[in-house]
Amino acid sequence: MTAATAHLDVDAIRADFPALAMTVRNGNQLVYLDSGATSQKPFQVLDAERSFYERHNSAAHRGTHLLGEEATDAYEGAREKVAAFIGADIGEVVVTKNATEAINLVAYAMSNATVAAAGSDRFRVLPGDEILTTEMEHHANLVPWQQLCERTGATLRWLGVTPDGRLDLDRLDSMITGRTKLVAVTHQSNVTGTIPPVAEIARVAHEKGALVLTDAAQSVPHQPVDAAALGVDFLAFSGHKMLGPYGIGVLFGRADLLEAMPPFLTGGSMIEMVRMEGSTFLPPPQRFEPGVPAVAEAAGLAAAVDYLSGLGMGAVAAHEESLTAHALDTLREINGVRILGPDTTKDRGGAVAFEVEGVHPHDVGQVLDELGVAVRTGHHCAWPLHRALGVQASTRATFYVYNTHAEVDALADGIRYAQRFFGARQ
Ligand SMILES: Cc1ncc(COP(=O)(O)O)c(C=O)c1O
Repeated sequence: MTAATAHLDVDAIRADFPALAMTVRNGNQLVYLDSGATSQKPFQVLDAERSFYERHNSAAHRGTHLLGEEATDAYEGAREKVAAFIGADIGEVVVTKNATEAINLVAYAMSNATVAAAGSDRFRVLPGDEILTTEMEHHANLVPWQQLCERTGATLRWLGVTPDGRLDLDRLDSMITGRTKLVAVTHQSNVTGTIPPVAEIARVAHEKGALVLTDAAQSVPHQPVDAAALGVDFLAFSGHKMLGPYGIGVLFGRADLLEAMPPFLTGGSMIEMVRMEGSTFLPPPQRFEPGVPAVAEAAGLAAAVDYLSGLGMGAVAAHEESLTAHALDTLREINGVRILGPDTTKDRGGAVAFEVEGVHPHDVGQVLDELGVAVRTGHHCAWPLHRALGVQASTRATFYVYNTHAEVDALADGIRYAQRFFGARQ
């Protein structure tokens, strides 16, 4: 049996997650369908972090003592594991606070390159240059590019979405021009689950000399991702959405690009030489990691990577596809429910956002919460996408390795109950 066809032993997995054993409102068993916001954490991750603090706590890359050495090993060991997990070289993995910071790192490095006399042309952004993004982005992969354009006088352009929530690629070729400095595109929408053809977009962008950054916050936790095979220049994700701790994320950057890129944040740990007149910087990835790093979080992230690798990312993706298919089938049968985004699992991950006719998403969320079903409501930090799909807000269920078909059924029962409660059409 290959990893892709292996089934997850969901009962065994659930036993690893203490939060899933909780009862919540009204004594109901927690049905956690909000992993797109943040995942629950297994004992293995909690233990790794605790054990670091208990037995190895020290600042990495500093002390000449035993604990300092152990902390450095834990931190660099985590980098090595993350690199192997996403098909990168060790030097291509920059540790950040989260995906948001990883994306901002590139955007600020580009404006730093623009103002520095010695800035590389590859990163310099001038008036008349363009950044291309899409209407499908999480704000984390939109606002930093708006801000970069404001700082530099460049123009932001974007690809739209089709009514079924796919990326509208009809104008891809004409939208990427010789003036395009960078294309920023999601690898999996956090609202519709849509998986755009990032490798194809990267191919077109590279033909025209543009850089490509993909927001992998919702893909790395849920499907096998090989940064090199994807052909992107930068890729960003967060630890907390992939069973790991908060406060740690990753920027993958192609080695030659990181080498040529100026730093974003500066200070200790990232310098080569400091004089009062000025400083020089270390090679990547240290150049982009100022200050004492998040070592306990790195140990937790390494444990999360081990956990997911043990399950096999092919099996993780297959499990989520089965949950998504069941959710699409089940929700489609409820009169008055409109699913946002693709109605099949083809090129679609496990985020299912929907509207319930006549019931405000916050009311749907509140009724579900009364039943112990945790979902997210609102615009999910993707306001332009909601506008493009003609809705103000939605209710969103997201799935992960520990979810079951019975939990999807609990969601559907809860939606029907909300419809009855608010006297909505059924
Ligand atoms: C697609 C996508 N990109 C970026 C982010 C930002 O992640 P973080 O808040 O961990 O930086 C999220 C978080 O929800 C997301 O779903």
